[in-house]
Amino acid sequence: MKYIEAKNYNDLSRKAANILSAQVILKPDAVLGLATGSTPIGTYKQLIEWYEKGDIDFSGVRTVNLDEYVGVTPDDPHSYRYFMNTNLFDHVNIKKSNTNVPSGTAVDMEKECERYNNLISELGGIDLQLLGIGHNGHIGFNEPGQAFEKMTHIVELGESTREANKRFFDSYDAVPHYAITMGIKAIMQARKLVLIANGSDKEEIIKKAIYGPVTPEVPASILQLHPDVTVICCFKD
Ligand code: PGA
Repeated sequence: MKYIEAKNYNDLSRKAANILSAQVILKPDAVLGLATGSTPIGTYKQLIEWYEKGDIDFSGVRTVNLDEYVGVTPDDPHSYRYFMNTNLFDHVNIKKSNTNVPSGTAVDMEKECERYNNLISELGGIDLQLLGIGHNGHIGFNEPGQAFEKMTHIVELGESTREANKRFFDSYDAVPHYAITMGIKAIMQARKLVLIANGSDKEEIIKKAIYGPVTPEVPASILQLHPDVTVICCFKD
């Protein structure tokens, strides 16, 4: 595991964007696993800036996102599809048909999980997966206590996750109770992982995840067993 402490959020974002951009330069049809949340916004801004300068070409890139809220339509501003469109896809030359976010509104959600697993296999697996981390150690929406081996599945969101995400909604009660998420197994099958964490409130969980025991109680701790992980942190507010 490579561990990098960034000078500030801007530095963190540039370092993560550098790794993503190197992946696209080395493999123009790379499969990028992407994440939502506050942390990756700066990374995506940096990628857009380099795209505008002509330094990155997304025309061959394929993407798969980690997760989506159940019951939230793609055009809803709270959806992760909407987040990805507005924070990255709408601003670069990626083909929308090459971008994938699990559907939160499929009639049969079990079938949707299966479809998403098959899709990742058909794409040839994920070359580089970007990850954030929740205060409870979740990656994607893999909440503490779930089995490590899971592929894409439906998860009930824990209280701390709903509490953390209420800032994007009108109230705590408006935060969806369920999500569809790529599982730990799918994440661990990505060839390269980049975990980003920003803010003093993430320091404790990062230390637990990196130095603590590998346990489903801290889902990100499984990353200790992956052969190619880069953790980029900034604990300053
Ligand atoms: P954040 O979310 O980037 O908004 O802190 C991270 C996560 O919950 O995975």
